[in-house]
Amino acid sequence: MKELDGKHIVLGLSGGIACYKSAELCRLLIKQGASVQVVMTEAAAQFITPVTMQALSNRPVYGSQWDAREPNHMPHINLSRGADAILIAPCSADFFARLAQGRADELLSLLCLARPADRVPLLLAPAMNREMWAHPATQRNLAQVAQDGAVVLGVGHGDQACGETGDGRMLEPAELLEEVIAFFTPKLLAGQRVLVTAGPTFESIDPVRGITNHSSGKMGFAIARAAREAGAEVTLVAGPVHLPTPHGVRRVNVRSAQEMLAVTEPQAQDATVFIATAAVADWRPATQSEQKIKKDGSGQTPVLGFVENPDILATVAQSERARSGQLFCVGFAAESHDLLAHASAKRERKGVPLLVGNIGPATFGQDDNALLLVDAQGHRELPHASKRVLARQLVAEIARRLP
Ligand code: C5P
Repeated sequence: MKELDGKHIVLGLSGGIACYKSAELCRLLIKQGASVQVVMTEAAAQFITPVTMQALSNRPVYGSQWDAREPNHMPHINLSRGADAILIAPCSADFFARLAQGRADELLSLLCLARPADRVPLLLAPAMNREMWAHPATQRNLAQVAQDGAVVLGVGHGDQACGETGDGRMLEPAELLEEVIAFFTPKLLAGQRVLVTAGPTFESIDPVRGITNHSSGKMGFAIARAAREAGAEVTLVAGPVHLPTPHGVRRVNVRSAQEMLAVTEPQAQDATVFIATAAVADWRPATQSEQKIKKDGSGQTPVLGFVENPDILATVAQSERARSGQLFCVGFAAESHDLLAHASAKRERKGVPLLVGNIGPATFGQDDNALLLVDAQGHRELPHASKRVLARQLVAEIARRLP
């Protein structure tokens, strides 16, 4: 199952250097199962050729309202009617101005105006120089098109083709793909503020050594992404992992369990859902040497003492917000055997309404998993699937349980 199976997207390109990224975006949309009809303005064709876009989309590209290929001579009607969404990427400052005014003197703005607005959404990916972006006229046009029902996506910050640095870059193709997938995801967590811990923690022995575990963070990152796609505002507190931040998710990096608690506890004051997927180290070395512990050649090994780490989930689950039902807490249990018995016991011990069990050694680092959901009513299995799919199912299960 691909993420955009059965979806038909009209991909519109207006003029801007970011057009070169639209080739990759077209590929990514198609790889996820969408069919893509490309429409280009005359200016866009100055930046990238219709030949490239036709080859990638496997469909003739449209660029003129006078295109005689359509038997009724109405490409603006025919192309917009069958679309599940129209995505303009890049959407130039000039194109925003045209949309804001409802102009219709070339095919792309004409088909945006002619689309049945109640069933064909319009997504706009701005791309322009930072001064053009910041100009009051542009901001006025953005506000107007949003008020008229278009979805204005964000912009990136950084180096621009003109040599300046600032806001206004088009989002990267992979980010735009995430935005399109998110757009089609039911907003089960709209209005919720979700806090997720993910990954392992690292407990220092000295400046160069420490103890940690094999958690990859993939399950927690997938949950953060799924929650954001479901409309939540998401904060992800991540231990040391090498995973890209899901688009639209706020990430705070931490190392040790104590750091994770120090960030998580205040964040939980503002959250409505807390999902603790992190594999927090149970113990940390009792003392941390400020200098590297040296091997002195005597054959003597250092003696390490340990102290217990704070239990982040149990701490948050005992907070006033959690106990009064304003914060819904979800725990994870990575077990090696007797999953149901251990997960049920852990749910009671941690004082959380929902505990998710999985077999630790089988899932650490993998892209797939199987989950066992345990709550006060009983248990339910989410059978073996990708972590991405399971994350979505878990989000739906959590949404069902919220007040
Ligand atoms: O106690 P155990 O590690 O088996 O419990 C697992 C659950 O508790 C997970 O949700 C994990 O994120 C959370 N946990 C925690 N802080 C700890 C230990 C576990 O938040 N110190």
